[in-house]
Amino acid sequence: MLKQTQYLSKNYGKPDSWKLDLYEQEGGYKSARKALSMSRDQVIAEAKAAHIRGRGGAGFDAGTKWSFMPPPGDKPHYLVVNADEGEPGTFKDRTIMEMNPHSLIEGCIIAGYGIGAHAAYIYVRDELHLSKARLWAAIEEARAKGYLGEKPFGKDWPMQVFVHTGAGAYICGEETALINSLEGRRGEPRLKPPFPAQYGVFGMPSTVNNVETIAIMPSVFEVGGDTFSQLSELHGFNDGGARLFGVSGHVKKPGVYEAAVGLTLRELIYDLGGGMLDDRPLLGVIPGGSSCPIMLEDEIVNVEGDERFAPYNGKSVLDLPMGVDTYRRTGNMLGTCCAIVLSDRADPVLACQNLIHFYKHESCGQCTPCREGCGWLERIFDKVVQGTATLEELDQVHEIASNITGNTICAFGDGAATPMLAFIRKFRKHFEDYVQTGGKNQTGELGWLVTDRRAAE
Ligand SMILES: Cc1cc2nc3c(=O)[nH]c(=O)nc-3n(C[C@H](O)[C@H](O)[C@H](O)COP(=O)(O)O)c2cc1C
Repeated sequence: MLKQTQYLSKNYGKPDSWKLDLYEQEGGYKSARKALSMSRDQVIAEAKAAHIRGRGGAGFDAGTKWSFMPPPGDKPHYLVVNADEGEPGTFKDRTIMEMNPHSLIEGCIIAGYGIGAHAAYIYVRDELHLSKARLWAAIEEARAKGYLGEKPFGKDWPMQVFVHTGAGAYICGEETALINSLEGRRGEPRLKPPFPAQYGVFGMPSTVNNVETIAIMPSVFEVGGDTFSQLSELHGFNDGGARLFGVSGHVKKPGVYEAAVGLTLRELIYDLGGGMLDDRPLLGVIPGGSSCPIMLEDEIVNVEGDERFAPYNGKSVLDLPMGVDTYRRTGNMLGTCCAIVLSDRADPVLACQNLIHFYKHESCGQCTPCREGCGWLERIFDKVVQGTATLEELDQVHEIASNITGNTICAFGDGAATPMLAFIRKFRKHFEDYVQTGGKNQTGELGWLVTDRRAAE
């Protein structure tokens, strides 16, 4: 059931939606005022009641993460907002920063107070020029009003928000690489434990949250955590509220939409996304950024021993509500909830090659299985496309990818390898065709284009 909501996106598209005037006219900063009148424990309890699963990809419960922070003591605490948004196919956080930056700043005040921090660092991908400009301007406006500063809303809880610009490395979206980068070090992930709540920015207790996770907090505190949670179809899975859904690729209306958690991929593609471009058949969909395995319409949900799945068992994965645990239990991944849709015009072999180029380029090189494995995979897929690979090399993809997963410091390795495994398992025939015909027999139009170009060369 399609349940569109308007919390974060309420003012998207309105003139000056990023300015304080409009934000306040519509009740902005009331939630921060309210949160600062509560105890820190009450703030965390309210966030927990909302069951906001982290919107950055891993889906960890936000309130629970906040509760891991030690009580304020002699060490400063920090809030870090992850605005790196480098995941291919993901473009939701920038809409918040560009069109509703005050929700993020208000969220920083609420979260900062909840975790005992007086400073928040928003780590923004440097290429997002408009996001940075709008954030800087919004911070100035909030400071001028005294909402940021020594005594926000009269409360003796000094709070400052700073924007820190990244430098375009995808790995700096991984939270501990981000922390290193913020400190001026090389952006390489750290071993965990210790987790950021124990040893974060400058060695101090820190919480890292995604832009959307923080920006939705004013809405949570406005309506109440429990009420917010129950907006979701997946309240029973502790996956609460409403969230932003992105859709790109071969759909008629690509974009960012806001809806209750539990929307299905079919609704995202055919209702919000306007349907398939040129009404072509769906080849497959990558549900939440390129690190998620591609899903096919004929994959069927089959989860035994959990009553909550009874309504979905036997149906296509396209009709399974999009949630962190619903997807995890069916062997998929919700990721950033920004779907990349491929029609039958796309060639899965070329799509796969395109992705491995990205991962090979972005591997930080710290862990051997990832550094070397991504390179080997890239070489094999390049050979497949050039028509010089062998069937044995296709089989090696399984071995190489399986040796990356679970063997690296951070989740980048899994994010690179599992999509490759999914492509090669689900489109084996296409890969074999390339091997057997030297890439000359492709049905996907993009495949023909490349073959033609090569022939012309
Ligand atoms: C390679 C890699 C890139 C990531 N990029 C981002 C990113 O751009 N934005 C983000 O919020 N989380 C990203 N994450 C997830 C973060 O490590 C972390 O889980 C997240 O910021 C926590 O926020 P949340 O709990 O609010 O989701 C990335 C993870 C990995 C492994």
